[in-house]
Amino acid sequence: MKKQFLLLLAMAGMVSLSSWAQDVVLENAKFHAGDDAAWAGVNVDESSWSNIKNSATWTSQGVKIENGFGWYRYHVTIPKSMLDKSDLKETVDFVLGGVDDADETYLNGKLIGKTGRFPSDEKGYASQWSTKRNYRVKANSSLIKWDADNVLAVRVYNAGDPGGMFEGPIRVRVPNTIDNLSINISEGTDGKGVVQSFSTLKSTMQASKSGVFAVKVVDPETGETLSEKSMKVSINEKKDKTIAVPYDNHRMVRIVSTFTETKSGLSCTAQYIPKYILTPAAPAEPRFNTAPIYGVRPGSPVHFRFGVSGEKPMKFSAADLPAGLTLNPDNGALSGSIEKAGSYTFTVKARNAKGEQSQRFTIRCGSKIALTPPMGWNSWNCWGLSVTQDKVISSAKALIDKGLADYGYCYMNIDDGWEAKERNADGTIAVNEKFPSMKDLGDWLHSEGLKFGIYSSPGDLTCGGYLGSIDHELQDAESYNSWGIDYLKYDWCGYGRKHRTEPDNQTVASYVRPYLLMERYLRQQPRDIFYSLCQYGMADVWKWGEAVDANSWRTTGDITDTWASLYHIGFELQPELYPYAKPGHWNDPDMLIVGKVGWSNNLRDSRLTPDEQYTHISLWTLLASNMLIGCDIAQMDEFTVALLCNNEVNAVNQDILGKQAKRDVVDGSIQVWSRPLSDGSYAVGIFNVGKTDARVDFKKYFPQLGIKSLKSVRDLWRQQDLSTSDVSYFIPTHGVKYLKIAY
Ligand code: GAL
Repeated sequence: MKKQFLLLLAMAGMVSLSSWAQDVVLENAKFHAGDDAAWAGVNVDESSWSNIKNSATWTSQGVKIENGFGWYRYHVTIPKSMLDKSDLKETVDFVLGGVDDADETYLNGKLIGKTGRFPSDEKGYASQWSTKRNYRVKANSSLIKWDADNVLAVRVYNAGDPGGMFEGPIRVRVPNTIDNLSINISEGTDGKGVVQSFSTLKSTMQASKSGVFAVKVVDPETGETLSEKSMKVSINEKKDKTIAVPYDNHRMVRIVSTFTETKSGLSCTAQYIPKYILTPAAPAEPRFNTAPIYGVRPGSPVHFRFGVSGEKPMKFSAADLPAGLTLNPDNGALSGSIEKAGSYTFTVKARNAKGEQSQRFTIRCGSKIALTPPMGWNSWNCWGLSVTQDKVISSAKALIDKGLADYGYCYMNIDDGWEAKERNADGTIAVNEKFPSMKDLGDWLHSEGLKFGIYSSPGDLTCGGYLGSIDHELQDAESYNSWGIDYLKYDWCGYGRKHRTEPDNQTVASYVRPYLLMERYLRQQPRDIFYSLCQYGMADVWKWGEAVDANSWRTTGDITDTWASLYHIGFELQPELYPYAKPGHWNDPDMLIVGKVGWSNNLRDSRLTPDEQYTHISLWTLLASNMLIGCDIAQMDEFTVALLCNNEVNAVNQDILGKQAKRDVVDGSIQVWSRPLSDGSYAVGIFNVGKTDARVDFKKYFPQLGIKSLKSVRDLWRQQDLSTSDVSYFIPTHGVKYLKIAY
């Protein structure tokens, strides 16, 4: 089955309804694998049937049906009182949610709904696993047995893995009018560019319903209503109503929209968390934003760009550059090479119409590269296999134009999907038609001081089914060198098939082998190639990644843009990994999931709420993780740019001490993570991973952090000094208070 499956499960809805009619909740069913039309009936001997939950796939409950049927049967008493309480009394709804992949649902032996198609159907099999099923039966139908036992039987067909009913519990209810109305909230700007929330009230009913539609902008911390608009409306299935309300997008607010239906007095409510920008605008004068250190091996080409924000144009100069290097005065790109190992310190100046700034900068020419975690972009989370050379160029241009390069983002990495179907006759790797010239692309990126990355697999095939490097490792390393590659992501994938056949596949050595092989050939090239291992954390890769000279190693499976994925990867899988990160060698919990992503040509806004995005970037900077942007930079909005370009936040990630954060406190839904910084201070993330907003008194955790008294406290996102005595903070659900403290 589809990769995104688990991700959708946890999708955070922006719409929440209240005042639902009462419902009967069904959590468990009787289950039988196989298929028998008789199982739709009322009288079935279920003594040999097993118990199953409908809140998780059958696969996760030990059922192995890869291409076949299984039946769920429920016994449900439908109380007549539900009908009496409903103001509508029109239907009884059976709300099943998604079913993987296709179903037919029967009530007391009669078909009441079908979604998707079975292989035997006239048009053939079609999966509709993510479609939410809501099967309706007329309330006056003789099919419904009020206050008595009813049998709901669901025939499920699944292709691939996993399968079954997974979104339980099932709800049976008699809807009220209000349940047929819904509110959807989005954000945007009006004709004059003023930021607005748009609340739209919709109905699925023919008959017009009227009531009061009210939209409030609320401060979640104080509960105060900051502004409000309300009006009388009348809507039906053909007529929606939208209310636009402006809000300040530099402050944390909630948009709360409520419709109260006049006749029933019942209401429905939706809540929305709009994006809010915390990073203060950068000053117009030049400001250096990147770590003052860079590692290169003797003789290897230097590709580096000084990250300096401020008004453009800007001029760069350096009086005492090490021999062999030149600085492009217009874009701050450093190039050339240094022959002799050693530490070279010099002063760089940046000047614009508003002023001048200088920075002492050190190049460490020796065996280590990646002295701070890599920052840049990778094509996978946005374009998936539809990546093209033009798309890489357009994101690279936007990286410069939108100012991300001024904050140190420099790697432009092509993920899977660039390879041709077959190698050239001489065995060298060929590119497909989407990449007219890797060499030209590399040259252009380098002329801008950016770096060039690529992807391959030690196996026969990549995860996307493209050619891997097996038996051609040296040739591929040589091709990468000739194209000017600076970063290789080497993804296990197809190698798994070979590995399974190896007699020693239980050993760590068998996991190390393909990575060691490629390392040898990469190091033979006359350039530095950041070596990024991608094998999802198998065989505790963090324990041996450094030994194969990897610069980073993925610690997890693939990330996606949901809280469930972020929480699992960030908060469940990383806590014990801090001892393994150090300059030159980093844990990689996968790429960023902010901005417009989609793993295909269809991009969407990240499904993370704004607070989840602040949590994501805060945690990744604490973890000294690779900071690879996963969205289309050309379409990046102001919020995302500000999220990724906070110099004080990024300075934690790029701190030259290179110590990854440790989790010091788990107190219910509150977690405190901290890492020491090179200036003697600490970065501290206080996270609220719970479902409700929280007020946290940081003092409570001083003993666990070893704090006796605070010398200074700075809010990193807002870049403001805070009180050292009042350290009580409001932290929204899934949000963070990110501090730099000295004690
Ligand atoms: C996965 C990998 C992803 C992406 C993809 C390409 O194995 O974890 O990050 O590279 O393959 O097919």
